[in-house]
Amino acid sequence: MLPGKFISFEGVDGAGKSTHVEAVAQYLRDRGLNVVTTREPGGTPLGEKLRELLLHESMHLETEALLMFAARREHIAKIILPAIHRGDWVISDRFTDASFAYQGGGRRLALDKLQSLEQWVHADLQPDLTLLFDVPLEVARERLSAGRALDKFEQEKDDFFERVREVYLMRVRSFPSRIKIIDGTRPVAEVSAQVEHDVTALLGGQ
Ligand code: TMP
Repeated sequence: MLPGKFISFEGVDGAGKSTHVEAVAQYLRDRGLNVVTTREPGGTPLGEKLRELLLHESMHLETEALLMFAARREHIAKIILPAIHRGDWVISDRFTDASFAYQGGGRRLALDKLQSLEQWVHADLQPDLTLLFDVPLEVARERLSAGRALDKFEQEKDDFFERVREVYLMRVRSFPSRIKIIDGTRPVAEVSAQVEHDVTALLGGQ
């Protein structure tokens, strides 16, 4: 077993997950842990360039899936694995569940293609814990429209996001010990408490 831990945060755009990444990182640092916060697509200089393309250029759905995994390959090699080997905790704002939800659910890319990519890129690595921030579509939409200009994914229609959410929830049923649902409609303080509770359970397992 590797000395560090790997946690991913997931959810539809507007579910509120990103707000909690830094807060829980601080919570863990206060307990003496070294914590690396990162994100996908992105997390490395090359990954951030791929992110720009992925979020703003239109492309074939398979190109999109391949670039997501290319960015991920780089991220795992340069950031995630070295950190876990050092004994650090990594918190990534999204990981492969997002590819299943967005490319598989949203864009309807065949599941076996995504499973092959997952096997190729990280057959032996899965997050120790994934927190799925779940909100109904109306809530996510409201939060998005309150903010900045929308990227390519955020501009998708409601049925796209219904499929994304559905796949996320299916994955909770498939991987119940890894993926925990966080009810993102609750007040921020309550959500933080839940996040801290779930992360602390992992701490006990060290
Ligand atoms: P973010 O807004 O949470 O940073 O995520 C960027 C967008 O990228 C978001 O709309 C979800 C999308 N995405 C995918 O479609 N597939 C993936 O594998 C990842 C990691 C993100």
